[in-house]
Amino acid sequence: MAARTVRLLVNGASRAVAAQPARPLLGVLRDELDLTGAKYGCGEGQCGACTVLVDGKATRSCVTTVGDAAGKAVTTIEGVARGKQLHPLQTAFIESGAMQCGYCVPGVIVAALGLLKKNADPSESEIRSALRGNICRCGTYPRIVQAVRSAAAAMHKGGKP
Ligand code: FES
Repeated sequence: MAARTVRLLVNGASRAVAAQPARPLLGVLRDELDLTGAKYGCGEGQCGACTVLVDGKATRSCVTTVGDAAGKAVTTIEGVARGKQLHPLQTAFIESGAMQCGYCVPGVIVAALGLLKKNADPSESEIRSALRGNICRCGTYPRIVQAVRSAAAAMHKGGKP
């Protein structure tokens, strides 16, 4: 299949890339747009390392084609902070020590952002349910849940950038 120009709205900026429409979005983000925060883990939609938001919904970019994302708003971990001001989720992950090797963290934070966009005050079970597809091989799940709860509380207090 021939490459064609695909337009995406990535982290608020209109981007045009030449790509085969069936190419995975993850590869386009990483290789064409130099947005390497989303990670390749399993390549099969099972681990969550590649999670981005597409029109606000947590999406596995390894099994989403760039053609399917055309014309939609894509948010990667690079688009979560506002300039140098970290998002409350990022601050909470640091303060909670919710990372060890860090490989899964961009996908986890983006998935958590997708959750908080639709549920500003999630319960622990709702957080666990929303993040059940994000695998952390270091096993920091309790601290991840704590971080998301802390971020939700901070955003309630107006800490959202
Ligand atoms: Fe996409 Fe694992 S790399 S879900």
